Amino acid sequence: MIEYVSSLEGIREHNLQGFFVGWPNPPDESTFLKILENSDEIVLAVETSDEQVVGFITAITDKTLMAFIPLLEVLPSYQGRGIGGELVERMLRRLSGFYAIDLMCDRALQNFYKRFGMQPASGGMVLRNYQNQSGNI
Ligand SMILES: CC(C)(COP(=O)(O)OP(=O)(O)OC[C@H]1O[C@@H](n2cnc3c(N)ncnc32)[C@H](O)[C@@H]1OP(=O)(O)O)[C@@H](O)C(=O)NCCC(=O)NCCS
Repeated sequence: MIEYVSSLEGIREHNLQGFFVGWPNPPDESTFLKILENSDEIVLAVETSDEQVVGFITAITDKTLMAFIPLLEVLPSYQGRGIGGELVERMLRRLSGFYAIDLMCDRALQNFYKRFGMQPASGGMVLRNYQNQSGNI
C-alpha cells in the first residue's frame, strides 16, 4: 500500500534509494535527505510494506506569493499507477495560498501537468552548473 506523507519522520537515507534516474552525476542519499529537509514543502509516497520512499515532490517558496516545484519523481517500477498525479495534487493543495506556482518540464510532460489546471508558459531561462549536479552546498 502507498501512504502519502509530508514529513520526514522515520525517513532515513536507506529509505531514499533509486532516485535521480538518468542523472549523470546524481545526488547521493545523504544529499537527497538534505534536499528534502531544506525544501519548504514535500510530499512523499511511501511503500508501507518496507517503508521505502517510491515517489516524492518538493517545493520552495518565498512564503508570501511565489512557489516553485523543482523536483518530482516516481521510481520506474512504480510509475503509471497514479502516484505522480497524486503527489502533484497533494502539493498543489499545500500551495493553494500562493499566487504563482511554477515549474519547468519537458514539452512532452505538459499534458500531464495540464490536468491539474497548469498551463504552458511561453518561455523560460535556465542556467545549469553541471559540476554541482550531485550537490555542492
Ligand atoms: C513524470 C512522473 C513523475 C509521473 O509519475 P507517474 O506515477 O507515472 O504518474 P501517473 O501514473 O500519475 O501519470 C502518468 C501519466 O504521466 C504521463 N507521463 C509520464 N512520463 C511522461 C513523459 N516522459 N512524457 C509524457 N508523458 C509522461 C504518462 O503518459 C501518463 O499519462 P496517462 O495517465 O494519460 O496515461 C514519472 O514518470 C517520473 O518520475 N518521471 C521521471 C522524472 C520526471 O520526468 N519528473 C518530472 C520532472 S518535471
